[in-house]
Amino acid sequence: MDPKKMPREMTGAELKSMLKSSINFKSLGGLKSEELTLSPEKKQWWRDAKVGMFVHWGLYSILGRGEWARFNEHIPGEEYAKLAEEFTGENWDMDVWAQLAEDMGAKYMVMVARHHDGFALWDSPGSYQGFTTMNTGSHRDYIREYTEAARRHNLRVGVYYSNMDWRFPGYFDPKGKPESAAAMKKQAYDQVAELCGNYGKVDILWYDGSWLNHSGSDTTAAWLWEPVKLNLLARSFNPEMLINPRSGWEGDFYCDEGSHEITGKIIPVPWEKNMCVCSGASWGWMANDPVSDLNWLIHMLVDVVTRDGNILLNVAPDGKGAIPQAVQNRVRELGQWLKENGDSIYGTRGGPIEPVDRVYGTTSKEDHIYLHIQDREAFADCTLPLEGYRVLECTYGGEKIPYTQEESSLRVMLPEGLPRQADTIVKLRVDRPVEPKKDAEVYFTGK
Ligand code: GLC
Repeated sequence: MDPKKMPREMTGAELKSMLKSSINFKSLGGLKSEELTLSPEKKQWWRDAKVGMFVHWGLYSILGRGEWARFNEHIPGEEYAKLAEEFTGENWDMDVWAQLAEDMGAKYMVMVARHHDGFALWDSPGSYQGFTTMNTGSHRDYIREYTEAARRHNLRVGVYYSNMDWRFPGYFDPKGKPESAAAMKKQAYDQVAELCGNYGKVDILWYDGSWLNHSGSDTTAAWLWEPVKLNLLARSFNPEMLINPRSGWEGDFYCDEGSHEITGKIIPVPWEKNMCVCSGASWGWMANDPVSDLNWLIHMLVDVVTRDGNILLNVAPDGKGAIPQAVQNRVRELGQWLKENGDSIYGTRGGPIEPVDRVYGTTSKEDHIYLHIQDREAFADCTLPLEGYRVLECTYGGEKIPYTQEESSLRVMLPEGLPRQADTIVKLRVDRPVEPKKDAEVYFTGK
């Protein structure tokens, strides 16, 4: 798909059908704002980073039944709040976490600062009823520990924040209980200012929960949140901060959530897939949540980067802050793979050749094109459409391999007897730097 030929406005469904894609962008139809628009240059570091680690940890981690437990199980507020005394973080060591993110090959982290249950993991004067880790069992400021440790490990700092909070009757009945809804909004403004203002430079603000009364989407309650105003406040602390689309403003990138495969063509806008290292049944910790297969995680990562996206992988510590060993192991294996193959991932752009679902895709950087081959048998029959670049060299594992090139097509002959692997990477050197696809100037209306 040539991004220049894309309409200036379309729905998510139209995008999917145009790209024959499984992509499912969330929170489309947010407000537009020229004042908030970041230039492509300011997003460059994020696009180069490719891999991030997401962390869901809060009172729900003690229960182990998912981060929605309070709501789903109708747990009364006072009863739920008692968990805060048990939340002492005795096994929480942020250096271990940041080290794990580094070992995973992540270049940024996004930590849940406050989820829908209202419990703030930092010293938050703006918290309604002072429901914070500072005032309860822990007496710790985990966002301080997090931001400092992440920076020590050279990771960019992202913060997840849920605008809505189940503790407010105004969430359930915003028109009928406007004072409570206004208090919830005030809390959001105060807390966003605290998070963006009190912990050094926050690189990513990752909102969630901007809907109301359990209906609509993140973009339908802009009348309450006034997200442009909220994000101008956030940006006043860091004018270059990237902001996701889930506050009701359009955002700097798009989000695809969940463990479904990504298929179809290259997606010509900045986007991020967020999913779990474990089953995805919940984002918060659950006992015995099965850890995903390494090859499958590599498959997902490759599907995303060959379609020009980032991947944000969630890990969930238990109630005491410990990371299950099986999760640690898997994450390190992925990191090892990235250590060996990272030059075909980091700093690349998707393309120039469109992917073929479950067979191959490409990434490129300077005068290199990386073929990521997922199905070697099917690939053996493929003629690759490559126009405008002359291949000067074709290598696998540093060794030259044979290829033939005609005007607009390329065939690559893989060596026999290669080991079974999730991704077989062939590196092509071409006669000039590969031009990254320009982003489409499109607004998704969300219908
Ligand atoms: C969904 C879930 C929320 C989770 C988020 C992560 O919005 O409702 O609990 O934190 O996804 O992307």
